[in-house]
Amino acid sequence: MLAVDSLTVSHGPVTALREVSFSAARGAITAVLGANGAGKTTLLRTVSGLHRAGAGSITLDGRPIDRLPAESMVALGLAHVPEGRGVITELSVEENLRLGGLGRGRVRPGDLDLAYDLFGVLAERRNQLAGTLSGGERQMLVIGRALMARPEILLLDEPSLGLAPRVVAQIFALLRRLVVDQGLSVLLVEQNAISALSVADRGVVLHLGRVVADEEASRLAADDQLRHAYLGF
Ligand SMILES: Nc1ncnc2c1ncn2[C@@H]1O[C@H](COP(=O)(O)OP(=O)(O)OP(=O)(O)O)[C@@H](O)[C@H]1O
Ligand SMILES: [Mg+2]
Repeated sequence: MLAVDSLTVSHGPVTALREVSFSAARGAITAVLGANGAGKTTLLRTVSGLHRAGAGSITLDGRPIDRLPAESMVALGLAHVPEGRGVITELSVEENLRLGGLGRGRVRPGDLDLAYDLFGVLAERRNQLAGTLSGGERQMLVIGRALMARPEILLLDEPSLGLAPRVVAQIFALLRRLVVDQGLSVLLVEQNAISALSVADRGVVLHLGRVVADEEASRLAADDQLRHAYLGF
């Protein structure tokens, strides 16, 4: 569905990605793994049009998207949940969710139900200020908000960071459900390789801006040498 080909991206003098190629299949979770500074965030930001590539191409269903502005991505079915769980703290949970639907025009009554069905805790807290949510609840809110745009592919940047393992497992199980039930495609950037590979179909490992492995998730998890060298477990 999403294909990245020979992508090179620099931040001024720093080359963050060098000739990165991989693809993310429709209806699957593709994990992008790697240590701090590997280039994971740069990759997601380039895919969603927030950075320009120096060279290479990005296509969505065969259509080149690397020259398109970031604001056109929602209409193409691509939603990006950045690092850091940014919510509008002085708005309620429901108001934050509604913002996610604005890119597609009017929010329809059924739109909120998808987020509420998936994340029951958000339904219970719909009138609570987003600034008072726990970290795990905030992560659910930013995913729910992205889903309001009814994307076909969801880009997630380190959703597990700083969350308890039990909460991470819960969020990843819900991602799996979206993939299975709705055919959603997910590009999941994670440093937490153990958790990510337990839910992903495929894993791509970045090291200093280069792809050093691209394999079925179960095979990556079983590759001792690779795990020790690049994944830290
Ligand atoms: N705006 C920027 N200006 C200069 N260098 C940058 C900028 N953003 C990222 N970099 C550099 O690009 C490289 C890749 O950074 P990036 O944030 O993509 O890594 P990452 O894999 O997401 O790391 P982390 O796991 O810490 O989030 C790093 O060396 C970083 O210092
Ligand atoms: Mg990052």
